Amino acid sequence: MQQVTRILLLLILALVYTGCGNGEERESAPARDEAPELTQFELEHGIGPVTERLDIGDINVERARRGAEVFDLRCTACHRMGRRFVGPPLGEITEARSHEFIINFILNPEEMTNRHPVGQALLQEYMTIMPYQNVSKEQAIEIVDFLRYYAETGEDLRD
Ligand code: HEC
Repeated sequence: MQQVTRILLLLILALVYTGCGNGEERESAPARDEAPELTQFELEHGIGPVTERLDIGDINVERARRGAEVFDLRCTACHRMGRRFVGPPLGEITEARSHEFIINFILNPEEMTNRHPVGQALLQEYMTIMPYQNVSKEQAIEIVDFLRYYAETGEDLRD
């Protein structure tokens, strides 16, 4: 009888132990577990139209200036550089996310907020779905340059 109790205790301990272990694993595990239907590319770089790495090269100031104009027209209503507004601050976004991720967010915000774990978390935080802004892929790349230029120099080309 005593032995049965001991075995039961050991079993419970083992369950508790593996239970905790799993919990820790889940926290540090890649987001893949949260969204198994997404590919590794989609997790890192967002849900298409862009489905492979783009080489957009170094910052091109002319392109960044065009991006500043598009940003001013289509994004300023909701985004600030250094603080949260309707949406998250974008002043350091090029350090945090890949170019492809940002471009996919601009071109496909609906799927990014519905199906991507990062977008879903942002939606919970900001409670507004970013609407598609009718921006072309070319213009999205210009915006990335505008944001890269800001992140590197602190200079806002809209000023
Ligand atoms: C009507 C408000 C609105 C407009 C206009 C808007 N956004 Fe957003 N944006 C949001 C919100 C809100 C989020 C947070 C995600 C969500 O809830 O959809 C967001 C999220 C983002 C993200 C993801 C940030 C991250 O941390 O990954 C990027 C990048 C972004 N917006 C860029 C832009 C750009 C560039 C434009 C202009 C072309 C733009 N947004 C226009 C509201 C807006």
